[in-house]
Amino acid sequence: MTDDLNLDKGGAPHQTTEQGYETMTTSQGVAVSDDQNHLKAGARGPMLMEDFHFREKIFHFDHERIPERVVHARGFGAHGYFELTDDCSDVSMAHIFNHVGEKTPAFVRFSTVAGNKGSPDLARDVRGFAVKLYTQEGNWDIVGNNIPVFFIQDAIKFPDLIHSAKQEPDRGFPQAQTAHDNFWDFASLSPESMNMIMWIMSDRTIPRSFRFMEGFGVHTFKLVNAEGKPTFVKFHWKPKQGLQSVVWNEAVKTNGADPDFHRRDLWDAIQAGDYPEWELGLQLFDEDFAEKFDFDVLDATKIIPEELIPIRKVGRLVLDRVVDNFFAETEQVAFCTQNIVPGVDFTDDPLLQGRNFSYLDTQIKRLGSPNFTHIPVNAPKCPFRHFQQDGHMAMHNPKGRANYEPNSWGTEEGGPRENPQKGFKSVPQELEGPKLRVRSERFADHYSQARQFYISQTEVEQAHIGQALVFELSKVETPVIRTRMVSHLRNIDESLANMVADGLGIELPDPATPAKAPITDLPPSEPLSIVKNG
Ligand code: HEM
Repeated sequence: MTDDLNLDKGGAPHQTTEQGYETMTTSQGVAVSDDQNHLKAGARGPMLMEDFHFREKIFHFDHERIPERVVHARGFGAHGYFELTDDCSDVSMAHIFNHVGEKTPAFVRFSTVAGNKGSPDLARDVRGFAVKLYTQEGNWDIVGNNIPVFFIQDAIKFPDLIHSAKQEPDRGFPQAQTAHDNFWDFASLSPESMNMIMWIMSDRTIPRSFRFMEGFGVHTFKLVNAEGKPTFVKFHWKPKQGLQSVVWNEAVKTNGADPDFHRRDLWDAIQAGDYPEWELGLQLFDEDFAEKFDFDVLDATKIIPEELIPIRKVGRLVLDRVVDNFFAETEQVAFCTQNIVPGVDFTDDPLLQGRNFSYLDTQIKRLGSPNFTHIPVNAPKCPFRHFQQDGHMAMHNPKGRANYEPNSWGTEEGGPRENPQKGFKSVPQELEGPKLRVRSERFADHYSQARQFYISQTEVEQAHIGQALVFELSKVETPVIRTRMVSHLRNIDESLANMVADGLGIELPDPATPAKAPITDLPPSEPLSIVKNG
């Protein structure tokens, strides 16, 4: 995958040492005679400035680090392919959905969300499940998680969510776990997160390995067929290996014994030829169906129940190749929700729309240049031509005379042209309404799906959720935050609220009100008069 910047360029004779190794050179290709000692005036003398090999080596080392991802910093990637097994031309005109049996190259990066780059793999956390599909019509990224819902409904809340989940700013800890006051403070003041809270307190957030997780696109997207007809869709990745988690004790011990457990597991499985595989499932529905739900399909804190819309399995994703170079590929890969192809389209989900801005923006900072699409792992594998040019590390400047359009030049010199027939077009949509900062009333039920999730769990799984809540909330030092959380639990399931209140040794508080609040009418966050451990 990495560009082989090797020694044989330009017909120069291949340089080898007497023992047959490739000769070490500077970045300029000059053979190095001694890599152990810098150039000095005399055996004990001061260093000489002219030692270009030393200076180049240390200069390069000094600049090895790039910013880690602001979220999902810790991750592990692998290559593979997607193969369509069911023709989907009824719902999408995308090439990838129209050619059964064709293999589309893919790169997948799994990650934790809150932990820094060096954090342990088995933290209780959501797992990222980001898939880049190098289709013949451009790169399509499904940047999903292993949980089908999210904490917040509007992307404007994302920095707050993440600030609350990462290290507390004064003390720089705790690093990754959800067990701290700030996170539970934010969650308990954000009833919209209650469905997600049930999922993250379940065993889903301590998966046995990346190979045993589901993946979800989370948002409602649109597929668009050749007639231009849109169909709403939710994307699901179902692991052929099955769904497996560890229990909390195992997670804690594994973190101590081998903090790289998940990345090692994926590496070892692929190297052993035991290629992990997922089926792509689609939940498809139309506008009329969407209107029948009590909740809004644009609300990313809700699932579409599989009993109502069964999943249509349409393809398989297989991971069969580890990376050649972790930094070049896994670290530098840049997924983005706005990377879609003709036949796929966005919805007005306010979380999705915000993500479409955030990824590109952060990647320019993280990777240092708008030319990060020139990095091999990010470049499309289909032909691409545009007039974007220059900037740091530009590798693919426009060829020929024209770098603008319209221009008068012919097909030889004139460069690329728009393609009204085949180019990407958004689904036409009538839009009207006052400019407002509100959310629809249909985003306001924060408890029903949390309850449905909880009661759908087996007794053992329910007990794990209760125990996880007791464990996490017992780490919270501020009593009002614990009480506020239990008051939400009363709107989810009374027995769960009782179990957690008992475990924490606190009185059962009144249920949070209102149980179904218009989003504009959230209870004000009372200033905390903090009595630690009071
Ligand atoms: C990174 C998923 C919401 C901003 C990621 C990654 C995943 C992901 C899987 C890691 C990609 C990789 O492996 O490189 C999700 C899901 C979301 C969500 C499923 C909700 C449904 C958001 C929101 C924002 C956001 C609302 C901001 C408004 C970011 C940023 C990164 C990131 C800045 C780092 C990207 C990079 O440095 O390359 N997200 N995310 N995410 N996400 Fe999200």
